[in-house]
Amino acid sequence: MDSYLEIAQEIAREAAALLTGYYERRVGFHLKGDFDLVTEADLASEKLVLERLRTRFPSHGIVAEESGAHAGTSEYRWYVDPLDGTTNFAHSFPAFCVSIALEKSGELIAGVVHDPLRDEVFTAERGAGAYLNHRRIRVSKAARLADSLVATGFPSRKRHESVNVHFFHQMAMETHGVRRAGSAALDLAYVAAGRLDAFWEFGLSPWDMAAGVLLVTEAGGARSDMQGGPHGIRSPHVLVDNGLIHEEILQLFREVFGGQHRYPLPTTNP
Ligand code: IPD
Ligand code: CA
Ligand code: CA
Repeated sequence: MDSYLEIAQEIAREAAALLTGYYERRVGFHLKGDFDLVTEADLASEKLVLERLRTRFPSHGIVAEESGAHAGTSEYRWYVDPLDGTTNFAHSFPAFCVSIALEKSGELIAGVVHDPLRDEVFTAERGAGAYLNHRRIRVSKAARLADSLVATGFPSRKRHESVNVHFFHQMAMETHGVRRAGSAALDLAYVAAGRLDAFWEFGLSPWDMAAGVLLVTEAGGARSDMQGGPHGIRSPHVLVDNGLIHEEILQLFREVFGGQHRYPLPTTNP
């Protein structure tokens, strides 16, 4: 019998192919809240993934972005982001993916992030490492923030309430740069692959992070909340990195939370 991960990979591949079709045809979008886009592709991809999961695993629970929670009768629960990076997708900006993860009794056990445009499939199973197209991946070896490339994101909803611009600014001053590519699942996968040294974001949902955080920890990285406490899949604020720069980032974050900014925001126009 195929493993859960193999089946998740198969389903993600099918959903990714479907997304590519929509992407090439340039679909329209509508708003599901202020600035929060949804396209036909999100809905079609979710329908496909849910149908496949239900056929294969009728007793499993599912939490999916567009349709919410579907209770199951077993200890297994899937987290599905049928299209992570919808805003990019709607603007033909080439950074989006499908993200599917499986939890057993509250513990993440398998995850897949599929990027159809680059043909990159990131996979992880608890205790068995993380892989990119079947080759083992590991987090980077950068030992200082000053040698790091990092990433973050901003919520579509309630972005006026987000404090992240302060963190963004301080991190931009201390690192080689901060990327904001618009797909949290890919950002997390890139930390696992050592392409990014750290990623943080306030206000993520379980489907954004489930596969990605498993990838990072299985690739040898560190994961916590913004204060260094344990991060659970239902905690919306997450910090992941290669483990070597975790303390340095937490120290910088402590200062920002405390209102002390090493680099004040510029106040005058150039
Ligand atoms: C969004 C992306 C984005 C992140 C947002 C998420 P969506 O997911 O992951 O990078 O900054 O917080 O909501 O809506 O494209 O699935
Ligand atoms: Ca998402
Ligand atoms: Ca989504």
